Amino acid sequence: MIVHPDGSRCRLADATPKKLHSVILAKKQISDTITEMEVYAPLVAASALPGQFVVVCQNEKAERIPLTISDIFPQRGSVSIIFQAVGRSTIELSRMNAGEEIMSVAGPMGQPSVIERFGRVAVIGGGVGTAIAYPVARALKASGNHVTVIVGARNKDLFILTDELRGFADELVLITDDGSSGKKGFVTDALRELLEKTAFQRVLCIGPLPMMKAVSDLTKQYSIPTVASLDPIMIDGTGMCGGCRVTVGGEARYTCVDGPEFDAHLVDWDELKKRKAFYFEEEKRQRDIALTGQ
Ligand code: FES
Repeated sequence: MIVHPDGSRCRLADATPKKLHSVILAKKQISDTITEMEVYAPLVAASALPGQFVVVCQNEKAERIPLTISDIFPQRGSVSIIFQAVGRSTIELSRMNAGEEIMSVAGPMGQPSVIERFGRVAVIGGGVGTAIAYPVARALKASGNHVTVIVGARNKDLFILTDELRGFADELVLITDDGSSGKKGFVTDALRELLEKTAFQRVLCIGPLPMMKAVSDLTKQYSIPTVASLDPIMIDGTGMCGGCRVTVGGEARYTCVDGPEFDAHLVDWDELKKRKAFYFEEEKRQRDIALTGQ
């Protein structure tokens, strides 16, 4: 048994220090498609900050997958990642189990979130984007902000981290497209209702592109500074390939090194939508291969 410095125990009886470089320490299936993994990555855990991400490469033939760090455990030398199995790489990653080794977990990548005392802050997470919203919201609360968290999902089975968020948020609003839990509607409906009675100094949104654009359009009407955490196509994650280029305020920015957070009111959302759709057909083909083996 490996005993972590904090006294907790790892179940990997035969792990050696060499094998521990990126071993999966624990795995939790949150829903049919959403998986949480704690991976041993001591160098990442030693310096990662809320808002940053890692690039996970399962094996020498696998795609590099950018995944946001949802929690950091410096004493255990590990970080948590939460991801949705939506493409071939994430489906294959989700099939791995505790004790198996991931070829590399590189990071921390990107710029950390700006954590200051803003006052009243709304943090909005859509679907698995809540995993990114969680550490940022917690850090904002720890810095003395009044934090309202709005979590939206298609249905109640897709909610994640609600207990953890409830643990520190001043206000937690849950909303589902189908009304199966919390209010029925979209995060923008919940935000609009709040904006009628609350003056927020800052809004942070993380989730599907249409949701972030809708939040941005809404907060623009109220002139509330708004930050969106973008997830364009990424390849190298080091600023070299240009795959993650976005236009912000008329300038080219690279999400992997300049982001992932940008001023939502300055993002060229239409261009981002087009760029994200470039490989849609190939992504679908690869997904089918992962699901059917053909
Ligand atoms: Fe290649 Fe950002 S992923 S430049």
